Amino acid sequence: MPDPPLLLAARRRPTPFTPVWLMRQAGRYLPEYRALRARHAFLELAKTPQTAAEVTLQPVERLGVDAAILFADILLIVEPLGVGLEFAKGEGPVIHRPVRSEADVARLAPVDVASAVGFVFETVRLVRRALPPHVPLIGFAGAPFTVASYVVEGGASRDYLATKRLMRETPNAWHRLMTLLADATAAYLNGQIAAGAAVVQLFDSWVGALAPDDYRTFVLPHTRAVIAALTPGTPVIHFGTGTAGLLPLLREAGGDVIGLDWRVDLDAGWRAVGEDVGVQGNLDPVALLSPPATFEPAVRSILRRAAGRPGHIFNLGHGVLESTPVEHVKALVDMVHELSAR
Ligand code: CP3
Repeated sequence: MPDPPLLLAARRRPTPFTPVWLMRQAGRYLPEYRALRARHAFLELAKTPQTAAEVTLQPVERLGVDAAILFADILLIVEPLGVGLEFAKGEGPVIHRPVRSEADVARLAPVDVASAVGFVFETVRLVRRALPPHVPLIGFAGAPFTVASYVVEGGASRDYLATKRLMRETPNAWHRLMTLLADATAAYLNGQIAAGAAVVQLFDSWVGALAPDDYRTFVLPHTRAVIAALTPGTPVIHFGTGTAGLLPLLREAGGDVIGLDWRVDLDAGWRAVGEDVGVQGNLDPVALLSPPATFEPAVRSILRRAAGRPGHIFNLGHGVLESTPVEHVKALVDMVHELSAR
């Protein structure tokens, strides 16, 4: 059996068609997910290996995507810090005791990953056993900046005021927090790889809020440390949004494949990161709210810009939105396979 297309593409090898998977392919737009959520809280679903494995497999069966992504969350790793993580109804994640000062950082103990998130590794093992052998499993974690932004702000943020103040006013505390998160994240990803994840994605979803010089000083060394500490031989996808002005720096931090959002043309983004890495993306998730005929030109444009070069993984520029019709998602996956067949 040849390697699965997604693994070949992640190594910039030719593939018979462009592999496709979707960020947030497991989630609330799927009726079978909503049915489970009606009975279980999000954290309960994520922490129970049987249900987390079931949710991971749901979109693989329904959509015919070229990879599964583990059902978990980037914030599971911060719960053991004792910051009071909660997924509140309708508001997204809330951290009840945000880390705002040097003293707050000093109180944080290093995370013992095996005991704190062992349930995630068990989910990976269950999924690996249940998946068809030709479908790789993508593991993931949040990159240190994006995770730190939740820990410092106490939840989602628009302007990242507390995060940027902490990094500028007490850089030593900032670097200590980022080092602690980077160490935990590397151990978390290596645990997923050991349990059977064939690829890992690092989500730096909100890093586009930073000036390039701030990224260089306050973020790049820590993201680079995570990627450098990963088990060799496992491809790494490094993703962020709003990164058009940061792409060469993301690439410098590391990754075999760089994720692009829809605010940049795929070919321009690929030039910015360099032709010696792969790219992933980059359809606007909102496009999927409209019927397939309306998003087909955008799909064709992305494939034309990739021009059949080895190293393109098709995806959205960010996650599937909750109000997306499932038939549109299925039509996208089929469309990418048909239009890219070589
Ligand atoms: O299908 C997949 O992509 C796998 C599962 C996955 C989840 N979260 C499940 C989830 C992944 C890869 C994530 C990553 C994640 N979590 C990120 C990075 C990706 C991104 O979207 O930028 C971030 C920033 C988070 C933090 C987070 N978790 C938020 C902001 C929210 C609430 C808002 C939202 O978009 O739903 C969550 C909760 C969450 N994580 C849900 C799911 C399916 C919804 C929970 C529910 O069912 O109510």
